Amino acid sequence: MRTQVGIIGAGPAGLLLGRLLSLQGIENVILERRSANHVLSRIRAGVLDSATLEALREAGCDQRMNAEGLFHDGFDIVSSGTRFHIDLKGLTGQHVIVYGQTEVTQDLMDARAKDGAATLYEAAAVNIDGIESGPARVAYEHEGGLKELTCDYIAGCDGFHGVAAKAIPSEIRKTFERVYPFGWLGLFADVPPCSHELIYANHRNGFALASMRSETRSRYYIQCPIDTDLADWPDERVWAELAIRLGEEAAAKMWSGPSLEKSVAPLRSFVCEPLRHGRLFLAGDAAHIVPPTGAKGLNLASADALVLSRALTALIKGGDSTLADAYSATRLAHIWKVERFSWWMTTMLHKFSEHEDFNSRIQLAELAYLSQSKAEQASLAENYVGLPF
Ligand code: APR
Ligand code: PHB
Repeated sequence: MRTQVGIIGAGPAGLLLGRLLSLQGIENVILERRSANHVLSRIRAGVLDSATLEALREAGCDQRMNAEGLFHDGFDIVSSGTRFHIDLKGLTGQHVIVYGQTEVTQDLMDARAKDGAATLYEAAAVNIDGIESGPARVAYEHEGGLKELTCDYIAGCDGFHGVAAKAIPSEIRKTFERVYPFGWLGLFADVPPCSHELIYANHRNGFALASMRSETRSRYYIQCPIDTDLADWPDERVWAELAIRLGEEAAAKMWSGPSLEKSVAPLRSFVCEPLRHGRLFLAGDAAHIVPPTGAKGLNLASADALVLSRALTALIKGGDSTLADAYSATRLAHIWKVERFSWWMTTMLHKFSEHEDFNSRIQLAELAYLSQSKAEQASLAENYVGLPF
């Protein structure tokens, strides 16, 4: 098989890139290791910042998001029993939209089906070749055989465990990583949210977050040890702990109910440099991971896809390599700022030590300062709604 752009991975990065290229008349094929249903059943975050709003608008896939998404003009932070508001709208003039990544993925899959663009599901890329000399080739396993996709360019949108990034020679590829010493236990329930906006809490028992997907579906998280056994956390225990950490005001309005899903996820910061080698470009989780505090994972993937689609369009349709040559540096400048923000939110809101030590006092001072200083709130808000890129 031959195409102009071979895309590995049908997560938001791959699907968004594919749609943006199809709109430009650039032929592309997506190879996805899992089934479409599996991709759609993965539970992910749900706060869209300006990058995703712009990308979905440009992709013409923003109708359902605008109709069904919840527009949030701010959120609350709880620290030492005090709850204060971050007025995103007042501080930046912008809002975020709460709309699940699964819904974004569904909308992009529907658009791709209408475009008639090829997606091979249960097709796992196993090797990448020819990215320095061309033609670029992706070897993949599909329907019991080893096949090959030949293309002008390859987009590695295959997530943290993919194969694309590893095709960059080890003497060129540099990785930066921080693994946090805790995880998030997440719970979904069909109950109304305890507040009309999100609540992030720093408590001496650990972090907690009250989020939502709709007026009737809530999403909650609590910080937990990374080796937590879910058997030790029946729903009642999670609800009780949420009530403690989120504070009395939230607890009084919290509806509890049976969990639809419950899982523990690790927290990691990671960047792979560069994002381009020859005919291979990386986008999304294949190139970087952020801890979920601040909800930036999907939004960074959207920004990558948007910038990459413009670079590939100029290259393929206009023979102009300026944007493609700048892709890695342009994206890394933005990615590192978002890495910093996600690390900062994580550091400020989580419990790192059993002891009341220097760091925990600094953390409380930071939160007290944030609660009082419009200048620091403005800094948080401009990052939360999405920095320009
Ligand atoms: N061959 C084909 N597909 C692959 C391969 C492979 N060898 N390896 C991984 N994949 C697929 C995965 O099955 C997955 O569907 O690549 C896709 C990558 O999608 P995501 O993990 O959703 O990553 P991305 O599109 O970059 O989106 C980033 O997703 O993980 C969240 O928090 C993250 O919100 C962020 C967003
Ligand atoms: C979520 O709703 O899943 C969510 C919201 C905000 C975050 C992280 C996750 O910071």
